[in-house]
Amino acid sequence: MLSELVYLSFRSAACTDNDVQKILEEARQFNGKQDITGVLIYSKEKFLQVLEGEQDQILALYEKIKLDDRHARALMVSNRPITERHFPSWQMAEKAINTDDYAFLSAMNEEEQAQFKALLDGEKQNNATKMIARLFA
Ligand SMILES: Cc1cc2nc3c(=O)[nH]c(=O)nc-3n(C[C@H](O)[C@H](O)[C@H](O)COP(=O)(O)O)c2cc1C
Repeated sequence: MLSELVYLSFRSAACTDNDVQKILEEARQFNGKQDITGVLIYSKEKFLQVLEGEQDQILALYEKIKLDDRHARALMVSNRPITERHFPSWQMAEKAINTDDYAFLSAMNEEEQAQFKALLDGEKQNNATKMIARLFA
């Protein structure tokens, strides 16, 4: 069953920008083989990742990612079946943001900020994920 899993986590102080690039390299290699797509949004202090693929595969990947000491306190925001992918052509897209208050991400208008905040609050995942996908279109 095609599913989407979204989680938030806290980036370790020791996790450099170079480490994030290594994570993305690993992710693209592995996710490509497993037909997993998504996006990794990161700031200095947090990660937000959307994983799309077969439910058991993305859950297994999430269990592995959770143990990675480049971050901690992973919190699953949503895990649900989807009918189509929001990031069909991205093994793992990335977006660095400058602020830890996602609501003030400058590239977003007010409506988008509200949707993004709703995603972080665990509501309206569908609209919010579509909105994130548009940022990468
Ligand atoms: C925030 C974060 C996101 C990650 N996302 C992925 C991912 O999408 N796919 C992936 O294969 N590894 C991802 N990783 C890396 C895995 O935790 C792990 O290091 C990698 O899969 C290699 O593991 P292995 O060599 O034990 O198989 C992520 C790590 C972190 C900290």
